[in-house]
Amino acid sequence: MRSIALASVLAAAVNLVTVVASPTPTEPEQPHKRASLPAVTASGNAFWQGSTRFYIRGVDYQPGGSSAMKDPLADTTVCERDITEFKKLGINTIRVYMTDNSANHDTCMNALADAGVYLIVDVNNPLYSINRFAPGPSYNAKYLQSVFATIDEFVKYDNTLAFFSGNEVINDNVTSTLSARYVKATTRDMRQYISNRGYRKIPVGYSAADVSQNRMQLAQYMNCGSDEERSDFFAFNDYSWCNTNFATAGWGEKVKNFTGYGIPIFLSEYGCITNGRDFGEVKALMSDQMTSVYSGGLMYEYALEENGYGIVKIPSSDSATVEEQPEFAKFAKALSANPAPTGSGGFTSTTNSVPCPTKDANWLIDSTELPSLPDGAKDLMKTGAGAGPGLKGAGSQNAGTGDTGNATPSSAGSTATSSSKNSAGLTAGPLEKAPLIIAGLVCVLTMTGTLLL
Ligand SMILES: *[C@@H]1O[C@H](CO)[C@@H](O)[C@H](O)[C@H]1NC(C)=O
Ligand SMILES: *[C@@H]1O[C@H](CO)[C@@H](O)[C@H](O)[C@H]1NC(C)=O
Repeated sequence: MRSIALASVLAAAVNLVTVVASPTPTEPEQPHKRASLPAVTASGNAFWQGSTRFYIRGVDYQPGGSSAMKDPLADTTVCERDITEFKKLGINTIRVYMTDNSANHDTCMNALADAGVYLIVDVNNPLYSINRFAPGPSYNAKYLQSVFATIDEFVKYDNTLAFFSGNEVINDNVTSTLSARYVKATTRDMRQYISNRGYRKIPVGYSAADVSQNRMQLAQYMNCGSDEERSDFFAFNDYSWCNTNFATAGWGEKVKNFTGYGIPIFLSEYGCITNGRDFGEVKALMSDQMTSVYSGGLMYEYALEENGYGIVKIPSSDSATVEEQPEFAKFAKALSANPAPTGSGGFTSTTNSVPCPTKDANWLIDSTELPSLPDGAKDLMKTGAGAGPGLKGAGSQNAGTGDTGNATPSSAGSTATSSSKNSAGLTAGPLEKAPLIIAGLVCVLTMTGTLLL
């Protein structure tokens, strides 16, 4: 079935892939208090800075990893130290996995804007997130209040590029595919909240783990169904380029498979460290081998942690200086040698949905219905989230009753079509940091293992 669905997508793609000189019109942006960096928009299967195509050329940024429970953008000493390094690298985007939605971010966000750097921010943290093995109870009003408060906090800044509704919630355990319904519902709710509050249309999407057995189904699932339920973009983490080349890394197939997908895609993490690193990924991502489908990517990661991926060693969390590792200069060189392409990169000017995946041994969801918005969250849609709980709140994973009923597909979560079942007996304690064993590599992603629960 997957190959049949793919064939129809590819057939559609033949008609869709036309090189157009300018993007489809987007709504004019309202004036914002700071104009140093124009807001990025999503249109067709690409991102735009005004009428210029925008490619993500960035790094993943969370000094200390998730266990530190620290927001680097709420600490001026930390962010200013690292922005100096971002400028040396010549990046245009950072991704931060965890922020404190009760803190003020003016100084760091404005300093990032001055450095020409956009932010893609995850709305979850270990306390407020979907539990992949008990997703029902963890999808509740307390959770969404924290998610919406994070939107309220970052929507103010023109250089907020996008929100991640989840990161690697679905992993290589097939049971976790059932949690995709709740992640998709969260994406839907975030987009509806942004719309209800009259905010700038900041794109919302999901960041998927590097799991070959469900990558395509998950991508299809996030972009199937009604417009209210679909994502604005899709991103996945990719560790297949182990200092090799486009063909050996299998990236050609990833271009082919996602041709005609219908919304922007980028790599939310890349950077296998087996065999050393020369960051050949940058050249591929900026070349016409990929630009018709992909809009760049984020190198994992900036700060060196125990897992060994970082390019900068930070002696202590409040240290005023950092120690650039040899990979720092290599990455900077890869970026400067491979600038963002000029022109439209062969993008597709229209968006489209794709067929929903069907249930099989690797994908357990057999319904296109999403859970409806939890009761208490309906008020938040009307009145706003209010003060965020930050990173010291009571947490939300066990705050729900387990089943909110199903939403009718076009209602964007506003109408329950089945009655709620109380399953408060389900426990959903924090899960252990589980190393992901992927494609024969042992990638110990300390951060994502705990952030995603
Ligand atoms: C998948 O997760 C479930 C729930 O935690 C667990 O019972 C099962 O053993 C896991 N399966 C594998 C293959 O690890
Ligand atoms: C491409 O799609 C096919 C068919 O769905 C799938 O079997 C294959 O694993 C995909 N390749 C990649 C690299 O995702």
